[in-house]
Amino acid sequence: KKIVIAIDGHSSCGKSTLAKSLARELGYVYIDSGAMYRAVTLYALRKGLFLNGQPDREKVISRLKEIKITFDWDEKAEKNTTFLNGENIEEEIRQLEVSQNVSPVSTIAEVRHEMVKQQRENGKSKGIVMDGRDIGTVVFPDAELKIFMTASPKIRAQRRYLELKEKGLEVDFDEILQNVEQRDAIDSGREVSPLKKADDAIVLDNSNLTREEQLQWSLNKARE
Ligand code: C5P
Repeated sequence: KKIVIAIDGHSSCGKSTLAKSLARELGYVYIDSGAMYRAVTLYALRKGLFLNGQPDREKVISRLKEIKITFDWDEKAEKNTTFLNGENIEEEIRQLEVSQNVSPVSTIAEVRHEMVKQQRENGKSKGIVMDGRDIGTVVFPDAELKIFMTASPKIRAQRRYLELKEKGLEVDFDEILQNVEQRDAIDSGREVSPLKKADDAIVLDNSNLTREEQLQWSLNKARE
């Protein structure tokens, strides 16, 4: 029987890595909900919808209808590609400028409303793994398996640092650590759909687990 798997948790703790390998193993579709908030943020940055470093809420809301986000999930390669109005933005939305501005954009209730609507449409057919911050609490409260991931901020920043460096991007460790902690604070503190563990989610602290260990642990839960 195909199910819905919701993976939530703090920034940069390996949610998408786990979600992608789970989707491949189970033959499910993977949806990166964070990429959708990043896409809206990129659009707002490009169109200058920021005022003194903060998103201009009214402007962002009024232009939401101009934003169409689609995905291409390559199961074999475990690779997800995000498109903004048909343009491949997968690389660009991972850059620090987007990471530094995405949490404020994600506090806008109307933005969340629109994203949640699209996420639910994606999840209509079962056999889906979606990762984010509010998947188990808001998007799919009835998901059959909910995993809440966490790890220490230092370990998370270290992983993200290596990931970006491997891609050849110029990065500063302290800046990344600061970004990870800042996003956690905004995501957990916001009024609409704050990041929190769903009551029926199981916690996976992966500070000291390999990717393979996390995958086997989750597969066991999915098959229970
Ligand atoms: O998952 P990722 O780190 O790419 O998400 C980027 C940002 O998007 C998060 O820090 C959070 O502010 C926002 N987000 C959210 N709800 C989700 C997924 C992401 O608010 N379901």
